[in-house]
Amino acid sequence: MSEAQPDTLVQAFQSVRQRSLHLAEPLSAEDCCAQSMPDASPVKWHLAHTTWFFETFILKPREEGFTPFHPAFRVLFNSYYNGVGAKHPRPQRGLLTRPSLDEVRAYRAQVDGRIRRLLECGADPALAALVELGLQHEQQHQELMLTDVKHLLAQNPLYPAYEADPLGHAAPAPASDWIPFEGGLAEIGFGGRGFCFDNELPRHRTYVAPFALASRLVTNAEYLAFIEAGGYRDPALWLSEGWDRVCAGELQHPLYWLGQEGGWGEFTLHGVQALDPQRPVTHVSLYEADAYARWRGARLPTEAEWEFAARQACLAGGALHPAGASGEGLIQMFGACWQWTSSSYAPYPGYAPAPGAIGEYNGKFMVNQYVLRGSSCATPDGHARPSYRNFFPAGARWQFTGIRLAR
Ligand SMILES: [Fe+2]
Repeated sequence: MSEAQPDTLVQAFQSVRQRSLHLAEPLSAEDCCAQSMPDASPVKWHLAHTTWFFETFILKPREEGFTPFHPAFRVLFNSYYNGVGAKHPRPQRGLLTRPSLDEVRAYRAQVDGRIRRLLECGADPALAALVELGLQHEQQHQELMLTDVKHLLAQNPLYPAYEADPLGHAAPAPASDWIPFEGGLAEIGFGGRGFCFDNELPRHRTYVAPFALASRLVTNAEYLAFIEAGGYRDPALWLSEGWDRVCAGELQHPLYWLGQEGGWGEFTLHGVQALDPQRPVTHVSLYEADAYARWRGARLPTEAEWEFAARQACLAGGALHPAGASGEGLIQMFGACWQWTSSSYAPYPGYAPAPGAIGEYNGKFMVNQYVLRGSSCATPDGHARPSYRNFFPAGARWQFTGIRLAR
């Protein structure tokens, strides 16, 4: 799956590894250690676990006379690979006050040097593919570093900003149009050259009936109209599990919206901002996305419809909050919010995970989750593509998730 040459691979390795440290720069050691919920991990843990991935899957089998940086790290920073052995419990990652952030930085520096030396001896295609997988894995964790730290900072009544500069106002969003697609027998899944994850394979044919997609994402103003019209009080709009959560008081508005004097605010990585009516609504669950779509007399797209349409969209990203919509045709497919689909996360026909522990990467999570398509403002540049399949349980709200309507 990789076609990177050794030089560019070393450069890519340095640049991705450096970016993780860069993302941690605005944070204190205390910020990096705390864990706000079982789903979210401390930044320090992300920095260590992405290093563990290179140490475990590359250095251990390939380095002559391999000695681990620290023997305990094999368990401490194993996320979910049962084939590797025992794991420190996920909900207790925030209790790891040791090793210190400085020790984790030293762990990163040492493993980086060892990987570079391995690459300088020449990367065979299998090694190059593993390094590329490690880098793509680290990019996924870079997005989680931002969303996890946002969730952490949101628990603090001081609402600290990750980025001190205010967000500013987005330009008025263009009207939302319906973009029609004829559908037909479509090729779905990754094709061509370059990297993809195993869950994007194999490319296969599927029939897509004629459909239409909304040209842009649903805005805060549009979602606020749903709230003000009593959307959260009408059981007819909700999937059963979603309505249970509404009744339990868990769902009343998007995560991070703050009812305050003078109107709604929103906690962002830039601190608390007045809710911007023109930006896309974000941090909604599948339940909320589905209820909103039903209220509008529409529905969520299937992942095949989304991918069929995305082949003509452009890629964008690289911010700390979703930008407003601009342009014509199908916009905001990438770089603003991950878009919920109505498709359960399931294997494509003929899907086969890689043998060994590395095969645990995607395949074993294909149950009780939904596919999200596109990418978000927090997705690293170059990481997204039309066939990319993100996945979360229906109730997850701490990612930059948004709503694109279909009919
Ligand atoms: Fe991971």
